[in-house]
Amino acid sequence: MTNKEVANYLRAFTLKEKNTSKKKNTSLLPENKATVVENIVLEGRSIPVYINEFWTSGQRQASSLHELAYRACFKPQLPRFFIEMLTQKGDLVYDPFSGRGTTAIEAALLGRKVIANDINPLSKIFSLPRLNIPSFQELRKRLEEIPLKEDLREEINLSMFFHPRTEGEIVSLKKYLFSRSESGTEDNLDRWIRMVATNRLTGHSPGFFSVYTLPPNQAVTPERQIKINAQRNQKPPYRDTKRLILKKAASLMRNLTAEQINNLRKAAEDALFLTADARLTPEIADESVRLTVTSPPFLDVVQYHKDNWLRCWFNSIDVREVEKRITACRNLEEWSSVMGGVFKELFRITKKGGWVAFEVGEVRKGSIRLEEYVVPLGLEAGFCCEAVVINFQKFTKTSNIWGVKNNLSGTNTNRIVLFQKK
Ligand SMILES: C[S@@+](CC[C@H](N)C(=O)[O-])C[C@H]1O[C@@H](n2cnc3c(N)ncnc32)[C@H](O)[C@@H]1O
Repeated sequence: MTNKEVANYLRAFTLKEKNTSKKKNTSLLPENKATVVENIVLEGRSIPVYINEFWTSGQRQASSLHELAYRACFKPQLPRFFIEMLTQKGDLVYDPFSGRGTTAIEAALLGRKVIANDINPLSKIFSLPRLNIPSFQELRKRLEEIPLKEDLREEINLSMFFHPRTEGEIVSLKKYLFSRSESGTEDNLDRWIRMVATNRLTGHSPGFFSVYTLPPNQAVTPERQIKINAQRNQKPPYRDTKRLILKKAASLMRNLTAEQINNLRKAAEDALFLTADARLTPEIADESVRLTVTSPPFLDVVQYHKDNWLRCWFNSIDVREVEKRITACRNLEEWSSVMGGVFKELFRITKKGGWVAFEVGEVRKGSIRLEEYVVPLGLEAGFCCEAVVINFQKFTKTSNIWGVKNNLSGTNTNRIVLFQKK
């Protein structure tokens, strides 16, 4: 699409979802759910702001393949909206802050080529395997072949999380995966086992290896878990790790079609998964990417080691080393300086006519409008800013009025700045 076609598309957009609710329209959008268009002036330019319910979770069910917990991940409907609007089959789609790989997986499902990058090595562990969907029988057979020693231990005490037998199984899996990767024999089945086991380590239901604890992307310290156990009067029960891995793998694959599996496999042929700083990705060729859809790290002070120490231990990754490299900015000046470098790199790799959809999210409860900082960075790198797209999930009377000048805090919105390289 050209920029004019994109503007017309966004303006004329109406959600292709039947309104099954019998309730009266309490939405602040017009009855016909037409797009509301406002303008903001930034850097002396007037930029259109398109506000609508462009995607909802119910609109078209997301693939089960996305169901891996990751901190601050976006819904697959977000990248899908931009991928469908701005690319064709075979185009290259990129995410420099890939996280669990939502953009890459969605793009591959839709028959696009993909590159994903994230400085967190767990990102590649979570995303790369999902491009090659294994046969369930082969996965089961591989799991059966892995020897589990119930009394195996490592120097680290994990008894507050796991039953002794489960702990032995986890240490056995860790050692097996380490030896496969060290000897260069790790294959796609091993990568699936690594991905699913990493996701199943701890959580709040019997589907996880641990006794009840916080959800899987927020591991607690051993000391905290001892307190949780005392408060709940609980002892870690035995969990059959192989059975739980197979169960989760089956659930991830449960609604894939043959066409999607084929699309994923095709994308895998030349997909690239990088573990670099988003400002420096020489592996990506100049002017090769048609569309970037991304959500950067925001201003929150994330203590990576707190949430990821166990996952990193399982994967033999030095959690403190990763933490040093991850962007965690204390203020907007620092953040803008890092993102300025990211935009320069995005400009280099974006094709002429290509696009960047940059999610700006809600920072400090909506008090900071990140688009005001992002637009100048994109322009400085050489992009044209075509639009701000606001997806407004719940149009209720209580959600205050939308609008650029108004506070959208507390509502489930996504704000995306859309740039084009002319
Ligand atoms: C908001 S999350 C992205 C989540 C992603 N959209 C998803 O759906 O999972 C931001 C990501 O940026 C990564 N990150 C932080 N600093 C980075 C940097 N300098 N270069 C590349 N990735 C970085 C973090 O590891 C994190 O995964």
